Amino acid sequence: MRIWKLGFVICVWFLLFAVESCLCRFMVENINLKVTSSSEDLKGSYKCALANFGIPRYGGTLRGLVKYPKENQEACNNFTDVSFKPDNPGALPVFLLVDRGGCYFTNKAWNAQNAGVAAILVTHETDDLITMDMPEHDPNATYLQNLTLSSVFITHSLGVSLKKELEKPNPILVTLDWTEALPHPDERVEYEFWTNTNDECGLKCDNQLNFVKTFKKVAQTLEQNGDTRFTPHYITWYCPEEYTSSDKCKSQCINHGRYCAPDPEEDFSKGYTGKEVVVQNLIQACFYKVANESGKPWLWWDYVTDFSTRCQMKEHKYDQECAHEVIKSFGVDTKKIDECVGDTTADTENAVLKAEQHAQIGSGTRGDVTIQPTVVINNRQYRGRLDNKAVLKAICSGFKEGTEPALCLSYEIETNECLVDNGGCWSDKVTNITACKDTFRGKVCECPVVNGVKFVGDGYTHCEASAALRCQVNNGGCWEGSKEGRNYTACIGDHTKGCECPSGFKGDGVNSCEDIDECKEKKACQCSKCKCKNTWGSYECNCAANLFYLKEHDICISAKDVNTSDGWGFAWVFFGLIAIGVVGYIFYKYRVRRYMDSEIRAIMAQYMPLDGEVEVPVTRSHGDI
Ligand SMILES: *[C@@H]1O[C@H](CO)[C@@H](O)[C@H](O)[C@H]1NC(C)=O
Ligand SMILES: *[C@@H]1O[C@H](CO)[C@@H](O)[C@H](O)[C@H]1NC(C)=O
Ligand SMILES: *[C@@H]1O[C@H](CO)[C@@H](O)[C@H](O)[C@H]1NC(C)=O
Ligand SMILES: *[C@@H]1O[C@H](CO)[C@@H](O)[C@H](O)[C@H]1NC(C)=O
Ligand SMILES: *[C@@H]1O[C@H](CO)[C@@H](O)[C@H](O)[C@H]1NC(C)=O
Ligand SMILES: *[C@@H]1O[C@H](CO)[C@@H](O)[C@H](O)[C@H]1NC(C)=O
Repeated sequence: MRIWKLGFVICVWFLLFAVESCLCRFMVENINLKVTSSSEDLKGSYKCALANFGIPRYGGTLRGLVKYPKENQEACNNFTDVSFKPDNPGALPVFLLVDRGGCYFTNKAWNAQNAGVAAILVTHETDDLITMDMPEHDPNATYLQNLTLSSVFITHSLGVSLKKELEKPNPILVTLDWTEALPHPDERVEYEFWTNTNDECGLKCDNQLNFVKTFKKVAQTLEQNGDTRFTPHYITWYCPEEYTSSDKCKSQCINHGRYCAPDPEEDFSKGYTGKEVVVQNLIQACFYKVANESGKPWLWWDYVTDFSTRCQMKEHKYDQECAHEVIKSFGVDTKKIDECVGDTTADTENAVLKAEQHAQIGSGTRGDVTIQPTVVINNRQYRGRLDNKAVLKAICSGFKEGTEPALCLSYEIETNECLVDNGGCWSDKVTNITACKDTFRGKVCECPVVNGVKFVGDGYTHCEASAALRCQVNNGGCWEGSKEGRNYTACIGDHTKGCECPSGFKGDGVNSCEDIDECKEKKACQCSKCKCKNTWGSYECNCAANLFYLKEHDICISAKDVNTSDGWGFAWVFFGLIAIGVVGYIFYKYRVRRYMDSEIRAIMAQYMPLDGEVEVPVTRSHGDI
């Protein structure tokens, strides 16, 4: 039974044609596994290899406790009798140590995932690290879609040390670290998508199409904003010269055996041929070239999704005519595409496909591209399922920290670390406002902005609405009440914090403010001729006939010479005068002399300075007098 593969399937096919040139420099993508344990020997960082399935956590980390099952150590059977689910919230997830062999890697992963394991560490007999991949033809492959746990391959020696340490009662804590899985040198990410127009290869093809459809919008936004530079690529092989006239090469290659693709059904007698696949690949590559030259490389995503919908193999529409229809619908010049495709029967090179064959060969940190579909980000191969969110996460981790585009910080790629206890961040029990923010790198504790009000604080133990608008959110956490058609609040907008009962009330301002009975407490309206009546938040004071109550100064004054018919009219004149006084001293004096008779001046002079030696108090609260 083939239990693992290293892209050998394609290599073997390649060997068929070009034995001497198949070097297949396959690159195993590693990440760090940090072991924290009481044993000094075991402590440290180890390399481990990423699997090409499951949902990777590029940019993030995952911590857990290592366990090694007593039975079923290869994890080829289900773990119905054991559960590795963390038993209480906040408990660390389990990383299961699993021996290689007995079944597909994906079977081990699936059994472990169903038992509540967060990651599997697969170990074997040597210290070579390999990339675990999905089986090419698993009849029960539907579960592959649901495989989400992280899988890594560790060395034999680390496996042995872990097992030895597990015999002791000490827990072993490990951290898988994807933060440095991809280089992130600058504020632009270069990435490649190695794909294929073949739509009849089962699960892999369905995954690929699904990825293109779900990732399109994000890819186009990133490209249009200049955050990424994307290039699509197509793998082709060539037919060795001595076989160019064979039927096999003729049906699978174009340009006299120079560019070939495998038969979609792996059956030469039916359906479409490899030749037709190469032609469609070439048309897509040319479409990208032409679109890129016109400054709109993102049109490629539209073309590919539309082509895959309109020109399917199973509907017998996988041909050049259909491709032309789609090209035209984007207003792209079909002549330019035809020019780029050239004569596929001629014994000449095609510039685009020649460049594609060169690009297949790895360079620098990137190995040869042998698995497809595959994504290469900043010249490193992405490992994991082709899931739109996981790929976006990986791309996001390719930006220099702090330069990630907004898309990377959106809800789309949340890690859900805020769902449990607000991720340990500050939160307000009453309003459910939390400082926990989900990002592709995991949660961050950052005081939020709610309804435009910025909260400030450390994000962990406290956050407070900052000045100005803070009263708009939950009334700043302060008391508020309304009665008798009047509203009162203990939140003062221009204070940066705290609550204060409004005048006429007493209390802590947070939970309660109680009406002060000004009449009973002898706080106001105490003159001999006054009649006091308490109201909610205030009071009413009525003076005897011909006298008017001046609330500001809590006095009754005569207004016999003032030409007003009621107390309010007088008050209006009075307040008007105060306002005028503020506007300008001279103007004030002039108006006062003109409108106020000496008697009123005399009475008022007892209570407030009129000559300006002291500033005129414009407003004051009740308790001040
Ligand atoms: C788990 O495996 C046992 C035998 O190994 C089998 O009887 C049982 O049905 C399996 N359970 C599930 C849920 O597949
Ligand atoms: C597929 O699943 C069936 C039943 O679930 C099982 O009997 C069979 O062995 C599985 N095949 C493989 C190749 O795992
Ligand atoms: C995978 O998940 C889907 C939807 O969540 C579910 O319908 C399906 O049964 C699952 N497949 C397996 C093999 O568990
Ligand atoms: C796409 O266009 C840009 C700028 O016009 C150019 O720098 C880049 O090399 C082009 N890419 C390809 C693959 O042609
Ligand atoms: C806050 O969350 C709790 C529990 O989820 C819920 O019962 C409550 O109604 C929420 N309060 C507000 C103001 O949304
Ligand atoms: C008091 O508040 C209520 C709603 O909270 C509002 O409908 C009403 O208009 C307010 N009254 C005054 C006098 O502001």
